[in-house]
Amino acid sequence: MQIITIDGPASSGKGTVAKLIAKKLGFHYLESGAIYRVVALITIKEAIDSSDIDSILTLIDNMELRFIDGSVLVDNLDVTDGLRAEAVGMMASTVAKNDVIRKRLLDFQREFATEPGLVTDGRDMGSVVFPNAHLKIFLTASPTVRAKRRYEQLKHNINVSLDNILADIIARDKQDTERANAPLKYDSSFILIDNDNMTIDETVQCIISLLNSKHNI
Ligand code: C5P
Repeated sequence: MQIITIDGPASSGKGTVAKLIAKKLGFHYLESGAIYRVVALITIKEAIDSSDIDSILTLIDNMELRFIDGSVLVDNLDVTDGLRAEAVGMMASTVAKNDVIRKRLLDFQREFATEPGLVTDGRDMGSVVFPNAHLKIFLTASPTVRAKRRYEQLKHNINVSLDNILADIIARDKQDTERANAPLKYDSSFILIDNDNMTIDETVQCIISLLNSKHNI
């Protein structure tokens, strides 16, 4: 069974690209960031302090999380829309620093690796969750380009400014790359793609070509 991991910073396009590749190949898709976002969303809703690890672990142990047709369901409630807020992303990044929380989520993520294959994106999918994946991509772009892309998605919302998005992206990059546990980190086991000057379709095509060339070796 093949596993393709796509790790990278916020708004690098990894989710969109991973989903399209999964569809092309007929593979399962796992957006691991959504798991951390769900934990963050409930932590915020239940007014749990991000340092109260025991309460967050209890929350994880008691929630029933399901991904169905692009929607995220927690205890049968559709929480998809609430997951995208910047505040939820920031809280996800804070919660994700904790090693015990990360370990508690490992088995859940690994269960997605079933036939015929899996495409998954996140920060540590190639380094920790699936270190032996068939193809490990590190997808990145400059903070300015990523902020502009995110702004284009969110600009209908009056509370959004490009400056604030850029500041959030830089803060989240710092937290995700400098943390002690499973930081976002490139090493030579990954193939690096900088998609500053590439469209989503070009990025997908590039990864499919890499996959095909692996098959021919
Ligand atoms: O990918 P996304 O931006 O939705 O992830 C939200 C946060 O969850 C990230 O900033 C990161 O801190 C955390 N995360 C992680 N490991 C993953 C996926 C996401 O730590 N595999």
